[in-house]
Amino acid sequence: MTDNLTVVTHPLIQHKLTLMRDVGTASAVFRQLLREISMLLAYEVLRDLPTTTKTIHTPLAEMSAPILEGRKLVFVSILRAGNGLLDGMLDLVPSARVGHIGLYRDPKTLQPVEYYLKLPEYMNERTCIAVDPMLATSNSASAALNRLKEAGARDIKFVCLLAAPEGVEALTTAHPDVQIYTAALDECLNDHGYIVPGLGDAGDRMYGTK
Ligand code: URA
Repeated sequence: MTDNLTVVTHPLIQHKLTLMRDVGTASAVFRQLLREISMLLAYEVLRDLPTTTKTIHTPLAEMSAPILEGRKLVFVSILRAGNGLLDGMLDLVPSARVGHIGLYRDPKTLQPVEYYLKLPEYMNERTCIAVDPMLATSNSASAALNRLKEAGARDIKFVCLLAAPEGVEALTTAHPDVQIYTAALDECLNDHGYIVPGLGDAGDRMYGTK
């Protein structure tokens, strides 16, 4: 569709995503699956992460061995559903810094309303991974990426679980410098801005709300 989009088609991800989509899947299972998928997505998203070297001693020899430049990475969760993707990524890279952007979608206008922002220092020096499970209209994602750029971020990737073609196109137009990673590209948005076939409201499914 566009070079800015990477669909991670690993069979493990697709299997777990099918279980998540099923309306009968309970919240606890849904959260666990999202955590597992986010680890698998992170493997792909972070493949170019910068490393440095450290001198260590194995039982046999001294060696200069690669380690992550942990302080260079920041995960930014777009609240509230972003936390579901954040958890798995933090499991993999516990030393990463974490930022939060609180945005909710006004149900009438579908426009994002910001209610919280907390980011670490030196955003301009970090690889920034913004996470939100559903890339629908892209209004929230685009507003979040604007905020990150205002804070100085230059190296940004956006990770979601499901994307609508409309959202990918709009986000790519607004932020052509940002690579988008998703587990699936669905068919379309419905009149309420929900992804079809999708999985419903990700936050509600995670936390058992309506
Ligand atoms: N947000 C969701 O949680 N689900 C959608 O389908 C679209 C936006």
